[in-house]
Amino acid sequence: MKLLVIGSGGREHALAWKLARSPRVSRVLVAPGNAGTEREDGVANIALTAIPDLVEFARKEAVAFTVVGPEAPLAEGIVDAFHAAGLRIFGPTRSAAQLESSKEYAKRFMVRHGIPTAAYAAFSEAAAAHEYVDRTGAPVVIKADGLAAGKGVVVATDLERAHAAVDMMLTEGKMGAAGRRVVIEECLEGEEASFIVLADGRHALALASSQDHKRLLDGDRGPNTGGMGAYSPAPVVTPDIHARVMREVIQPAIAGMEKDGQPYLGFLYAGLMITGEGRINVLEFNCRLGDPETQPILLRLKSDLVRLIEHALGGTLGEVEADWDTRVALGIVLAAHGYPDAPRKGDVVSGLPAAGEDYHVFHAGTAVNGKDVVTSGGRVLCVTALGANVRAAQRRAYEIAQGIRFDGMQYRGDIGHRALAAGRR
Ligand code: AMP
Ligand code: GLY
Repeated sequence: MKLLVIGSGGREHALAWKLARSPRVSRVLVAPGNAGTEREDGVANIALTAIPDLVEFARKEAVAFTVVGPEAPLAEGIVDAFHAAGLRIFGPTRSAAQLESSKEYAKRFMVRHGIPTAAYAAFSEAAAAHEYVDRTGAPVVIKADGLAAGKGVVVATDLERAHAAVDMMLTEGKMGAAGRRVVIEECLEGEEASFIVLADGRHALALASSQDHKRLLDGDRGPNTGGMGAYSPAPVVTPDIHARVMREVIQPAIAGMEKDGQPYLGFLYAGLMITGEGRINVLEFNCRLGDPETQPILLRLKSDLVRLIEHALGGTLGEVEADWDTRVALGIVLAAHGYPDAPRKGDVVSGLPAAGEDYHVFHAGTAVNGKDVVTSGGRVLCVTALGANVRAAQRRAYEIAQGIRFDGMQYRGDIGHRALAAGRR
């Protein structure tokens, strides 16, 4: 069978790579893909991005089903368009994707269905928002309501920063339409984890847990990014926490969407904050897999992903289990010069290794230029490796990363530091 993956990042390379390993798949097409998907065995790129063109392509090529990587096409209604054409696609409808595309929608949903999350209020008027900030005090978190590619959240440590964030979004309009409404919420402390499931509208199948590193620099300093590295599993998600997340977050979310009349089909990502006392709070829902979390997660997945998604599409996820490599997987993002503000394009990438049993170099912002692979986006590669423990996976991933070169390459030297600290506790 032929499959279609929508997107062009590291997450989509990992998805395409994993789907192509299924014995039942003849070819995975990626729209539009990157240099890594172009060169992957059994995978090919197609230069399409407009939804009507993708519908037409899937129909003409008799694609068995489509998997959507990023949030933007979901919020644009790609799933609705495929359904209207009678095509199979794995992802939430535009309306269900509001769980990610509107923070206020997500907060109301969580309150309505008793899912634990930080106290909040939402505003369109700057004066009322400023007054609320003065009343709650700092630290406080200011979030643009709409999609902002990971840049819409300000964790304000003092009142001055909180007021500046309110003005930036509501008065100066610097986040555009995404920041015309803001959610202001209580600042939570604890350890973050990414908890991602497949959902079929009624049942959920958990993927392995993971943790990412959002800040640009070592020691979790510097600006927020889309993610500079990730590993799986996340030690903070103990078997007890896992069971509670399923019971307190995932099951009420899936049941809540069904009750609200829009059963949730697709990957559902809960960004969690787990406090020292073991309290679980949802920071956000994403309607997709995480990037870069997907890269280490899928490197550990032993089951056939095609089969899992088919169960999800057929409403029988309750009948399957996923089988995981017991090793740890860890991925290091190699980012372009100038990332995250103004990533430079066109730098030639050299030293890319051949494929190996215990690692894979997933591409993100890369393009083919003649014989060369060149940078074409902020996050360029995610070097992902397996090891018997965090230390071994980390060592292996850095060993491979150090053989790769491009001008201006930036990466963190401490991916996995929290998991290592947890191991010492
Ligand atoms: P979000 O896109 O909502 O996950 O926010 C991005 C990042 O901001 C999260 O990964 C957290 O590091 C941080 N963050 C979001 N909400 C809160 C909160 N209520 N308290 C503390 N940190 C937060
Ligand atoms: N790595 C965080 C995300 O994909 O949202």
